[in-house]
Amino acid sequence: MKKILYIGLSIITSFTIATAKDVRLGIPPKTLEKYYPPNSEKYEFLMNMYKASTAFTGLSTSIREKDWQRAEKWAKTLKDAYLKIGELVPQWDKVLRKEEANFLVQAVKNKDIRKIQFFANAVGNTCSKCHDRYLASTKLLYHFPDFDTVTLEDPITSVEYNVSDYMKKMITSFKLLNVYMHDSKSKKAKKEGMNFVKRLKGLSQMCSECHTNQLSEKVYFGKDFYQKVKQLEQSIKNLNPNKISQTFNWINKNNCSKCHNVHEVPTMIREKIKKKQK
Ligand code: HEC
Ligand code: HEC
Ligand code: HEC
Repeated sequence: MKKILYIGLSIITSFTIATAKDVRLGIPPKTLEKYYPPNSEKYEFLMNMYKASTAFTGLSTSIREKDWQRAEKWAKTLKDAYLKIGELVPQWDKVLRKEEANFLVQAVKNKDIRKIQFFANAVGNTCSKCHDRYLASTKLLYHFPDFDTVTLEDPITSVEYNVSDYMKKMITSFKLLNVYMHDSKSKKAKKEGMNFVKRLKGLSQMCSECHTNQLSEKVYFGKDFYQKVKQLEQSIKNLNPNKISQTFNWINKNNCSKCHNVHEVPTMIREKIKKKQK
C-alpha cells in the first residue's frame, strides 16, 4: 500500500515539474512546405539560408582582409538573402530587421567598423532567434521521412498495416506469449510466441522503402540477430521463461531500441509538430 502511494505521488510530482519546464518547439508556417519535396526538389528556402550564411562569412572575411569592395558585395548579398526570407515565407517577414540590414550595407560602404558590428549583430540575432525556435522542427517536418506512408504486410493475417499498428500487433503477440505461459496455456503460448517471431522477422520488409543500401538493414538485422531469433524460437518451443526473457532482452536492446532511437523518437516528435501545423 505504501509503495503504491509512493508511486502515485511521484507521478504527480514529475507531472508538475514537466509542465513547469516544457520544451517548446516552434511550429513552422505551412507555406514552408512549398520549398521541400514532394512540392519542390530545389530546397529554395534552405538554399537561401546557405546563401545568407556564406555571405555573412564573406563579409567578415573581406573586412578582416580590408577588401572593402568585396565586403560591400557580400553585405548586399546578405541583405538580399535576408529580405528574401520574408518573400519566401510572408509569415516570417515581420521578424526581420530590414532597416538594420540596409544600415549594415551603408556602414560597410562607410567602412564604419563600430556600426558594422552593431548592425551585423542586430541582423545576426534574428537568425539565431528564429533557429532556436524553428530549426529542429523544420528539419523533422521536411527532412525526416513520414512513416505514415509506410505499410507492412502482417505475415499472420496478410493484412497491410501501418508501422504503428504493426508494432502494436507484434508486441501484443509477445505479451500474450507471457500471459498464456503464466496461465499454463501452453498451446496458445507457443502459437503467440511463434506469431511474435514471424512478425519480428517481417519487420525488415519495410527497410527498403527508404534505404537503398542493404548495409543499413544489416545493422539491426544481421547474423547475430538471426542467431538470437533461432534461440528465441527454441526457447518458445520449450516454453522456457528465463531463456525467452534473456533472448528477448537481447533483441530489445539490439534491434527494437536501436531502431527506435533512430526512427521512432523523431517520428514521435514529428507527428506532434505536424498535428499542430496550420
Ligand atoms: C524501423 C526500425 C524499427 C524496429 C526494428 C522496431 N521498431 Fe518499433 N517502431 C518503429 C517506428 C518508426 C515506430 C513509430 C511508428 C509511428 O508512430 O508511426 C515504432 C513504434 C513502436 C511501438 C509503439 C506503437 C504505437 O504507436 O503505440 C511499439 C510498441 C514498438 N515500436 C515495438 C517494437 C518492438 C517490440 C520491436 C522489436 C521487437 C520494434 N518495435 C522494432 C520502428 C522500429
Ligand atoms: C524567420 C526564420 C529564420 C531566419 C530569420 C533565419 N533562418 Fe536560417 N534557417 C531557418 C530554418 C527554418 C532553417 C531550416 C531549414 C532546413 O533545414 O531545411 C534554417 C537553416 C539555416 C541554415 C542551415 C543550418 C543547418 O543546420 O542545416 C543556415 C546556415 C542558416 N539557416 C543561416 C541563417 C542566417 C545566416 C540567417 C540570418 C542572416 C538566418 N539563417 C536567418 C529559419 C530562419
Ligand atoms: C520511412 C523511412 C525509413 C524506413 C522505413 C526505415 N528507415 Fe532507417 N533511416 C531513415 C532515416 C531518415 C535515417 C537517417 C539517415 C537518413 O536520412 O538517411 C535512417 C537511418 C538508419 C540507420 C543509420 C545509418 C544509416 O544507414 O543512415 C540505420 C542502421 C537504419 N536506418 C536501419 C533501418 C532498418 C534496419 C530499417 C527497417 C527495419 C529502416 N531503417 C527503415 C528512414 C527510414
